[in-house]
Amino acid sequence: MAKIGRPCHVKDIAEAAGMKERYVKEWLGAMVTGSIVEFDTSEETYVLPPHRIEVLCRQRGHGSTAVVSEAVPAICEVYSDILKCMEIDGPKGLSTLVCEIGCSSGTGLCRLATDYPNPRYYGIDISQSAIKTATSRADAANLSNVTFSCADATRLQDDWEAKFDVVYCMDVVHDVPRPDILLEEIHRILKKRWIFHHGGY
Ligand SMILES: C[S@@+](CC[C@H](N)C(=O)[O-])C[C@H]1O[C@@H](n2cnc3c(N)ncnc32)[C@H](O)[C@@H]1O
Repeated sequence: MAKIGRPCHVKDIAEAAGMKERYVKEWLGAMVTGSIVEFDTSEETYVLPPHRIEVLCRQRGHGSTAVVSEAVPAICEVYSDILKCMEIDGPKGLSTLVCEIGCSSGTGLCRLATDYPNPRYYGIDISQSAIKTATSRADAANLSNVTFSCADATRLQDDWEAKFDVVYCMDVVHDVPRPDILLEEIHRILKKRWIFHHGGY
C-alpha cells in the first residue's frame, strides 16, 4: 500500500501484493478498525496515509514500528501458515476444526460455515430447543460442514481430547455455575497450538 500511495480498491491492493482478494479484504477490515488504513465508504477505496507510511514502513529506521512487528512471527506460530493462505497460489485455508461453545440457535456458526466453507464446525449448546433450531438452520442452508449437538460444555466427549484448532464462545462463561470446569474442558479439547476466543463477561 505504501508503494501504491493513492486510494485504491481491495482488488488492486490484492493484485499488487500477489494475494487473494478475499483475505486481503479481511486484513484491510482489521487495519481500518485499528485506525491504520483509511477507508472511503462512498468510493470503497483504501489508503495508507503518508504520515503513517513513514512510521510503519521503515523510513524512520529504528524508530519505525516495522522493527517491532518483525517479532510477530516469532511469538505467533500460525503467522507463516496464515500468510501462505493469503498468497494467490497458497492453500485455500487451513483445514481447521472449530467449536463454538454455547452456540444457541447457530446464527453465528452458520454464518461462519457459509462465508468460510473450508473448516469443519461443531456447535454445542445445553439447550435442546436451541440445537433443534440450529440444525434446521444448517439444513435449510445446505451446510454440510457444520454439526450441532446438545451437550453440557463442562462435560464434553472423552474422544474430543486435543481435537480442535479453535474454540470460541460468546456470553457463555458467566452462565455456567462452574466456569473453572468449563475452561478446563475447553483447554482439554484444544490442540497444542490452540486458539481460544472468549467474548462476553
Ligand atoms: C447468553 S446465550 C449466548 C448465545 C450465543 N453465544 C450468542 O452470543 O448469541 C448463552 C448460551 O449458552 C448456553 N449454555 C449455558 N450453559 C451451557 C453449558 N453448560 N453447556 C453448553 N451451553 C451452555 C445457553 O443455552 C445459551 O444458548
